[in-house]
Amino acid sequence: MAFWSRKTIEMSVADANGEAGPRLRRSLGVVGLTAFGVGCTIGAGIFSLTGDVAAHQAGPAVSLAFVLASVACFFAGLCYAEFAAMVPISGSAYSYSFVTLGEGVAWIVGWSLVLEWLFSASVVAISWSGYTSAALGSIGLPLPPVLIHSPFAISVSGRWYLSGAWIDLPAVCVVIACTVLALAGTRTSAAVNTVIVVAKVIALVLIIAVGVEHVHAVNLQPFIPRNTGQFGQFGWSGVARAAGTLFFAYIGFDGVSTLAEEARDPQRTVPLSLFASLLICTVLYIGVSLVITGLANYRSLGVADPLYFALTKVGVSLGYLRALVAVVAIAGLLSVVLASIVGQVRIFYSMARDGLLPPAFGRLSRAAGIPYLATVCTGAAAAVMAGLLPLELLGELISIGTLLAFAVVCAGVIVLRRIAPDAHRPFRTPWVPVIPALGLLSCLALMLSLPAGTWIRLVVWTALGLLIYALYGRRHSRLSAALVPRKSAESAHTPF
Ligand code: ALA
Repeated sequence: MAFWSRKTIEMSVADANGEAGPRLRRSLGVVGLTAFGVGCTIGAGIFSLTGDVAAHQAGPAVSLAFVLASVACFFAGLCYAEFAAMVPISGSAYSYSFVTLGEGVAWIVGWSLVLEWLFSASVVAISWSGYTSAALGSIGLPLPPVLIHSPFAISVSGRWYLSGAWIDLPAVCVVIACTVLALAGTRTSAAVNTVIVVAKVIALVLIIAVGVEHVHAVNLQPFIPRNTGQFGQFGWSGVARAAGTLFFAYIGFDGVSTLAEEARDPQRTVPLSLFASLLICTVLYIGVSLVITGLANYRSLGVADPLYFALTKVGVSLGYLRALVAVVAIAGLLSVVLASIVGQVRIFYSMARDGLLPPAFGRLSRAAGIPYLATVCTGAAAAVMAGLLPLELLGELISIGTLLAFAVVCAGVIVLRRIAPDAHRPFRTPWVPVIPALGLLSCLALMLSLPAGTWIRLVVWTALGLLIYALYGRRHSRLSAALVPRKSAESAHTPF
């Protein structure tokens, strides 16, 4: 059955090096790749979500929640690195699942990665719109409210209603701008991204270095506030739920692996850049969250711009840093949108190359050497969702979809060590099966900490994906087409 048919590593690499038509260009080294990973990762999670999580789930222990979420990412990162070095092609977890668990599971993983990349682009564009409109309002240039919100909204009880707004226009504009940048080619988008990433990292380092002198120890006590009696509201259960929520902030470090086909010397550069991205983000997240919960009481941090807000507690002296944070947050969110579009396009590209999506998604432009139609379609879908749909609907699906992909990658390492024990592994995950098993368990634990409604939506999303696979992918699969003649030839020789 095609569903369980696997590609060999050699087939995957041969597909990527195929003679048919132009190939993606190998233009990125460790710096470009790491900048891409950090660019995809540092965004709405630290600039926005941290405050809400501190105020309602973990208190000052939000930094501990970052540590817990990073543990799952480090385990998954070790597994990603083994695959990325062995199968250095675009498509990330989708491509790795294809060589370990077969086409059907690869499809499910690829479909879940749409939640990670396409939905992230829209969600972060909506956050960008919120930040930018607030900033424009504060300098006396307010935008009309009907043009900065989505027309659909969801109430706390989960009911849909019309918000009265027409469209979230800034969110649509930022997606269009990022799509144009992505169309300019990987080198151009990587250069823009690198500049923004440097600014983001400098701003966060300054918050830590300057803010630490103004921390009031009293704000950090009790470090883990007492549970309110409800699961997830402070106490250890709050820290666990916060880790699940803050996992969002780490989403994107695996983006490095989507660009493996555009990396120079990918066996070395991709694993190195994966770890470098993860390490940089983890250190910054822990430092920033400790400092802001030390500057302001955690209960007051449930605002859209908690980093900026925490700095206001220091008084006028840090005005320059507040201005820098405001500007960098706006530019930084833009780079997440850009990197998310680029990452999604590479996954669609790989799926199209395997015949699971229409071939047009795999066609490369001659000038920039990138999948132009996939880029335009991704940008259009992200723009429509960002302009019309509410943040809550999209946001909650992103973490669970990414965790599912991470869990499959961890399981995949164990499977591939059994089915291809002698394959050349330029990077080996240490202590297999312990590390992948811990990765799998920590991803499942984080998934379990998410609300039941999110699970239901994941099931509906997966069912929709399977329907599309049954109607299109299964019938057009290149692997199935390659296997059928072999089977017919075998049966022709079977004596009756
Ligand atoms: N990790 C990305 C962010 O925090 C998605 O915006």
